[in-house]
Amino acid sequence: MRVGMNYRDQTARLKEVAALHHTGKRCVVAFMGDVHFSGFQFLERVELACGHTVDTVPGISSAQMMASRGRVCFDETAFLTFHRRGDVQPFKRHLIHALEDGRNAIVIPRPWDFMPRDIAAHCLEHGIDGARPAEVWEALTQDEASWSGRLDECTAEFSDLSIMLIRAPAEFPSQLDSPESGALAGNA
Ligand SMILES: C[S@@+](CC[C@H](N)C(=O)[O-])C[C@H]1O[C@@H](n2cnc3c(N)ncnc32)[C@H](O)[C@@H]1O
Repeated sequence: MRVGMNYRDQTARLKEVAALHHTGKRCVVAFMGDVHFSGFQFLERVELACGHTVDTVPGISSAQMMASRGRVCFDETAFLTFHRRGDVQPFKRHLIHALEDGRNAIVIPRPWDFMPRDIAAHCLEHGIDGARPAEVWEALTQDEASWSGRLDECTAEFSDLSIMLIRAPAEFPSQLDSPESGALAGNA
């Protein structure tokens, strides 16, 4: 049996799923991408409906798809979502700190009041260099489209199925030849 749900009716539909679960049915709640990125509020709803914690199985996130398309090293990247309920001020501060620290930032916008152009404006207002490279990817793995330019050129409108990348001013040095890597002559 399949129970469909959307953002508006998910609480009611999850109650139905939880009722089935409590009759002994094994239930799976399928969520887009990886629930561990920008999905924990939904996970909380699932667990509230069931009355206990549940197991999670990661899928492929939009961040992973974008990293693959745009060759992004996760080690040098901060991940942020604004697609959440509640106070986003701490996340806005973290975005600025991560960018000031020379990281890339992968950012999920919040439809429709904190979209890529609002995110760019927020960064510029807080002193981030407008020349930093930025990208917006839409409908990854579907009808893909992408924009790239400088952060201060990010003024267009994008769909709610979009994810933004603000790149570091420079990649971290490779350090493959550092003494700790064991790659130097004599360390083989
Ligand atoms: C609640 S978040 C969930 C993200 C999901 N957990 C993931 O791993 O990608 C939903 C947002 O993720 C982004 N997103 C999800 N799928 C996408 C895709 N195929 N292409 C671009 N952005 C996507 C959009 O910003 C969308 O509004």
